[in-house]
Amino acid sequence: MLGKFSYSNPTKLYFGEDAITSLNKELPKYGKNVLLVYGGGSIKQNGIYDRVIELLKANGKEIFEDAGVMPNPTVEKLYEGCKRAKEGKVDFILAVGGGSVCDYAKAVSVSVYCNEDPWDKYYLRMEDVDNEIIPVGCVLTMVGTGSEMNGGSVITNYESKLKIGHVFRENVFPKFSILDPTYTFTLPKYQMVAGFYDILSHILEQYFSGEDDNTSDYIMEGLMKSLIHSSKIAVKNPTDYEARSNIMWTATWALNTLVAKGKATDWMVHMLGQSVGAYTNATHGMTLAAVSMAYYKEILPFGLAKFKRFATNVWDVNPEGKSDSQVALEGLEKMEQYMKEIGLVMNLKELGVTEDMIEGIAKGTFILSGGYKELTYDEVITVLKNSME
Ligand code: NZQ
Ligand code: ZN
Repeated sequence: MLGKFSYSNPTKLYFGEDAITSLNKELPKYGKNVLLVYGGGSIKQNGIYDRVIELLKANGKEIFEDAGVMPNPTVEKLYEGCKRAKEGKVDFILAVGGGSVCDYAKAVSVSVYCNEDPWDKYYLRMEDVDNEIIPVGCVLTMVGTGSEMNGGSVITNYESKLKIGHVFRENVFPKFSILDPTYTFTLPKYQMVAGFYDILSHILEQYFSGEDDNTSDYIMEGLMKSLIHSSKIAVKNPTDYEARSNIMWTATWALNTLVAKGKATDWMVHMLGQSVGAYTNATHGMTLAAVSMAYYKEILPFGLAKFKRFATNVWDVNPEGKSDSQVALEGLEKMEQYMKEIGLVMNLKELGVTEDMIEGIAKGTFILSGGYKELTYDEVITVLKNSME
């Protein structure tokens, strides 16, 4: 059932080849001093950096660079970015990169004028922003997180072994995002497929909640079918524009708040994956892939009707002559085959998890109640153990 809600998404998108020229429309809206945030250097190798600098200069901007945002950005890097933004008295933050860079830019945007430790306020206490926010724009180079059109911002604190995401309100969403599918062509295959699974996982986390038959479920089935189809093509030919553009668009809609409408939402695979990330610094999408099968097998009996629907509507399992459980399990088997086919990491050992980490990872896993079964601590341990091989 779709209950009462209001809906809006303030991020303006510019999609397609050479969408970067839209910076000419957006940059004049903001002040002169721009913090240019990017990662470890891929944008210098593929030429995106030069193009962005050219456009910033053509728009008369003073550029302050904040490079070296690492995958899974750390709290120490956040403090450094705030210092840099303050020194430059920046009016605007331009994030050029993947989810890590976009998430980090949002974290800096709310933290520069925060009068206490932003880790405590936003990540441990999950408080709203009550200070000035520096506007953010994104140029996306890696597809998966949906950070380009949402308020999510995930920061890792390795000292306390916690990786936590704050979903900020609309005033923190990027003002605009530039989505050029050709910018993703240079991604290494490992990152590309990790991103594909991140998208699928975002959809599954929302789909596998609630028994209700609503529009969101149908939209999600369509998004999943498009993703499965296009990702198989992209794995064989990473420069297939049709496939990469479909995937880029799917990723945005998978996590821009639309399909969550009417859904309780689960997010346990992400809670498990994030805790794994805090212990291993593994690639986000791979942490999700490694725990998914064990998790879904654990909760399947509690959401049987939906798992059956997933099998027939998404994986085309023929239900004739089979019990509901058989159909549901066949759906998961097809998903597992697909995951292996596109080259995902299917177990935690391969991500560097050792037996002695399991307890700590379980303790760092926030248990949420929106899915079909609220896990106990022991069940979290079981899922992690079953994900080891
Ligand atoms: O740092 P550089 O040199 O740019 O290299 C990056 C990085 O090593 C590389 N890369 C990106 N674009 C490239 C490229 N290499 C070649 N060509 C390109 N065009 O890819 C690597 C991974 O980038 P990263 O930004 O870390 O990946 P992703 O987009 O998956 O972001 C992961 C982060 O987002 C968080 C994750 O937890 C993780 O910290 N998430 C954010 C969410 C949100 N905002 O809603 C939700 C997600 O569930 C997720 O938790
Ligand atoms: Zn994710």
